[in-house]
Amino acid sequence: MSHHASSHNGTLLLLGATSDIGGEIAVRMCAGREVVLAGRNPDRFGNIEKRLLDAGATDVRALAFEATDLATHRSVVEKAGINGPITTAIVAFGILGDQERAERDEAHAAEIATIDYAAQVSMLTVLADVLEAGEIFAFSSIAGWRARRANYVYGSTKAGLDAFCQGLADRLHGSPLKLITARPGFVIGSMTEGMKPAPLSVTPDHVADAVVGAARKKGSRTIWIPRQLQLLAWIMRCVPRPIWRHIPR
Ligand SMILES: NC(=O)c1ccc[n+]([C@@H]2O[C@H](COP(=O)([O-])OP(=O)(O)OC[C@H]3O[C@@H](n4cnc5c(N)ncnc54)[C@H](OP(=O)(O)O)[C@@H]3O)[C@@H](O)[C@H]2O)c1
Repeated sequence: MSHHASSHNGTLLLLGATSDIGGEIAVRMCAGREVVLAGRNPDRFGNIEKRLLDAGATDVRALAFEATDLATHRSVVEKAGINGPITTAIVAFGILGDQERAERDEAHAAEIATIDYAAQVSMLTVLADVLEAGEIFAFSSIAGWRARRANYVYGSTKAGLDAFCQGLADRLHGSPLKLITARPGFVIGSMTEGMKPAPLSVTPDHVADAVVGAARKKGSRTIWIPRQLQLLAWIMRCVPRPIWRHIPR
């Protein structure tokens, strides 16, 4: 695997330290930089910490971060930035949740909405306020493009997050800070463990290559991963509701 040096130094912050996709991005961008790993279980950071040091990170620091604790978001970012400015932030925390359970258990539905929407909005707002230059990576999904009966709770959070990201990207237009919004399809990894891969499935390293590539170009970008998903997305919008209603997943 090639490790691309980033065009800048400064601290890299990974929110959701054990995320498969987030880890792959961090490994690609960490050479010669300090990395801060933020997540709810620092006991489980060993694996990614070793990979980052092997890939050339100068230092790896761990911070406790619970996404549902919205009032702590700003202090987490402030603590991450104590040794110098954060110039890359990867917002990779999230849960798929259990749709069936969420249909009966409003606390679970609200938990998905909190982690995958409210906490994203809160953290992205802090990051856009604190970071002066560099890039923020955010994760939308094909699931948010058109909500499906099979996972509309998660899908609705991604729809909201995607809309937020489009507006934030416009706000950042022309500034030295950019927002890379990823719209992956099915990614084979811990979030989808045990599920049968959908057509056009990708792996976390494929997602990371695509978003790191987008971050090297000028300005904010929204990208489908894989690229062919854009055509599928267009078709999805044209499917009449009586048929769409029965899409199994
Ligand atoms: N995998 C896919 O098919 C897919 C497709 C499209 C979009 N995405 C999106 O891409 C992003 C990254 O996904 P991934 O596949 O890398 O997921 P992942 O490997 O399951 O990682 C999710 C991360 O979120 C953290 N997290 C969950 N709840 C948290 C909380 N309350 N507070 C703090 N951290 C929390 C997890 O920490 P713990 O280790 O503590 O659980 C883990 O580090 C997500 O936004 C996801 O929705 C994924």
